Amino acid sequence: MRYAMAAAKPGGSEVIRKIELGDMAPAAGEVLIRHEAIGINFLDIYIRNGLYPWPVETDHVLGSEGAGIIEAVGDGVSGLAVGDRVGYTLANGAYATHRVIDAGYVVKLPDNVSSELAASIMLKGLTVAYLIHDSFKVEAGHTVLFHAAAGGVGLIAGQWLNALGATVIGTAGGAEKCALAKANGYHHVIDYTSTDFEAEVMRLTDGKGVDVTYDSVGNDTMARSLTSTRRHGTIIAFGQSSGAYLDFKISDLAKGSYKLSRPTLFHFVGERDWLEANSAKLFTAVTDGTVDISINQKFPLADVAKAHDALTGRATTGSTILTV
Ligand SMILES: NC(=O)c1ccc[n+]([C@@H]2O[C@H](COP(=O)([O-])OP(=O)(O)OC[C@H]3O[C@@H](n4cnc5c(N)ncnc54)[C@H](OP(=O)(O)O)[C@@H]3O)[C@@H](O)[C@H]2O)c1
Repeated sequence: MRYAMAAAKPGGSEVIRKIELGDMAPAAGEVLIRHEAIGINFLDIYIRNGLYPWPVETDHVLGSEGAGIIEAVGDGVSGLAVGDRVGYTLANGAYATHRVIDAGYVVKLPDNVSSELAASIMLKGLTVAYLIHDSFKVEAGHTVLFHAAAGGVGLIAGQWLNALGATVIGTAGGAEKCALAKANGYHHVIDYTSTDFEAEVMRLTDGKGVDVTYDSVGNDTMARSLTSTRRHGTIIAFGQSSGAYLDFKISDLAKGSYKLSRPTLFHFVGERDWLEANSAKLFTAVTDGTVDISINQKFPLADVAKAHDALTGRATTGSTILTV
């Protein structure tokens, strides 16, 4: 049976239910994909719980990252054919056995990148690619603070930043997660559930602060992320797993003449040249030993609600995927 996991309104994970899919055909510029694996991301949580705008359809299919085989190609699509194994990231529509999608977001997978691997890196790995190359160009000698270091994005970032020659400081919740981050590129890892990370960052940087802070935790960390950053340094706010940080005032940046950016992946992958160049860079990084991907949780597609509960319960590390 062809099916999707959808929700009719925002809420807890219980709003997600199975819906049957009928025959599907791609329109011009689209392809039909039979999924082999699907990624789970915190973005899916923000959409499901209503933090991000709820799309208008009654049955809304969540999920923003997937990989599989092309089963049909619409008019005007070039460079993709029936039988190609492909991956993509695009907001919504991925929790399904099959989907049609704008071909502009789809890339062919090399033979040595499995569908499970692709479903765990198209969103998370391309996010790391833009964070460390575009939002701030990290170079050898930079000191970097990266929160939620043991998470899906965090484990990729630690390894890639280390390979660039940066000194990488991570934060994570609990001793096990700290040890995992340490084994994935981070030079120093602070348990921010038991230690004041700002004081520890200042100690590690001789009171100067880091060159760049990447904060996807939001409410619990953002105020101290600013003051853990060196004067004239950069803060990249790219998520809010602990809730939105609502206390920010532009004048807060005057505490250190900071630069602040709030980027989103879809403004990068929407540019075809960027998507192709950075997918190639990412596929090389995950196959040449620069970045090892840890797929630490797998759930059947129909059990996606359990995957959501694991992610919101801080019970996951590395990447989580759904199998079809
Ligand atoms: N802007 C973009 O383009 C973009 C793209 C991709 C991802 N993101 C963001 O990057 C972040 C990481 O995404 P991911 O999918 O890889 O998730 P993840 O890091 O695997 O999971 C989120 C982690 O946040 C930490 N956390 C801290 N406080 C939390 C709380 N109150 N509730 C739940 N988790 C909490 C937990 O790690 P500890 O237990 O170690 O604290 C948790 O494991 C998310 O905020 C996501 O929205 C942004």
